[in-house]
Amino acid sequence: MEAILVKELSKHFFKSKKKKIGKRSSGSNTIIRAVDAISFTVNRGEIFGFLGPNGAGKTTTIRMMTGVLKPTKGNIKIFNHDVWKNPIPIKQITGNVPEEANVYLELTGWQNLMFIGEIYGISKKDREEKAENLLRKFELYEKGKMKTKKYSKGMKQRLLLCMALMTNPEVLFLDEPTSGLDVQSARIIKQLIKEFNEKGMTIFLTTHDMEIANELCHRIAIINRGKIISLDTPENLKKLTQEYLAIDCYFNEAININGFEKLTSVKEVQGVKDGCHIIVEDVNKALFEIMEYVKSNNLTIKQINTHQPRLEDVFLKIIERGVSN
Ligand SMILES: Nc1ncnc2c1ncn2[C@@H]1O[C@H](COP(=O)(O)OP(=O)(O)OP(=O)(O)O)[C@@H](O)[C@H]1O
Ligand SMILES: [Mg+2]
Repeated sequence: MEAILVKELSKHFFKSKKKKIGKRSSGSNTIIRAVDAISFTVNRGEIFGFLGPNGAGKTTTIRMMTGVLKPTKGNIKIFNHDVWKNPIPIKQITGNVPEEANVYLELTGWQNLMFIGEIYGISKKDREEKAENLLRKFELYEKGKMKTKKYSKGMKQRLLLCMALMTNPEVLFLDEPTSGLDVQSARIIKQLIKEFNEKGMTIFLTTHDMEIANELCHRIAIINRGKIISLDTPENLKKLTQEYLAIDCYFNEAININGFEKLTSVKEVQGVKDGCHIIVEDVNKALFEIMEYVKSNNLTIKQINTHQPRLEDVFLKIIERGVSN
């Protein structure tokens, strides 16, 4: 069953251009199609990645899905409740960490969580228990009594996640949750996204971190200029650009790359320091041919590595080509 259903969703912004003609000024409006008739579904229990370059329309989409920004057209249903016609149940089943959210800086971490708990009508006992668990999980318990204006960026971001999780949401929206964070904070957040998802939470995630997207997301939609140009599992997306299959060979002696270019399974060879970067169609066949060539030319291999296509390469290629599937 789908958790989220987005149909023909659009958001247009109007930018006025003022021209001065003599003493008079005349204006015209240009339309920015920030989100342009996108449709997709997110399955229950899925981590759904929403990737795209800066300005692609990710935050605008999330803001419409979380009831913050009214769509120009289209509709959004979360567990069959229309986000714009029936907002109250949506608030109860979703948690949201927006792109530029902030915690209440004059309150401590603990007080922030108590405040959220009270707003959502959680009993004192439950909210205290929930807050303690979350602070411990996100490694913030020791700092719980500190005013959050003294928190680092990574600590604030972790607290924002705790705040979004206070209500045990069924669907969690995360807009770049690890942006600008150090390795440790990013790792804690990544681990916990995985953990909450394994317990059944559906997660809608935007990120520029391809490693996180590759590792966490069950499916990924790529959006560019307001349109979804690709939507599939990370594995299938990587299959779209097989030209990134490559073998790097390093040798003890100088080599002539022309010899490698003549091998039938080799598509392209680039010379690199101490060796060559060989782009191939079939890694197994190419490895066999390379080893034959190495043996018959009395070369000694220092190191050899094979590369699968990386999500990052695929992402760039899809954006560049506008591949659609
Ligand atoms: N309130 C607004 N008024 C006018 N234009 C806007 C507004 N909000 C967003 N836009 C425009 O809509 C487009 C999409 O912006 P959005 O913030 O959704 O991008 P994004 O994919 O989240 O980018 P980033 O990766 O930089 O966060 C951009 O061209 C942006 O300038
Ligand atoms: Mg954004």
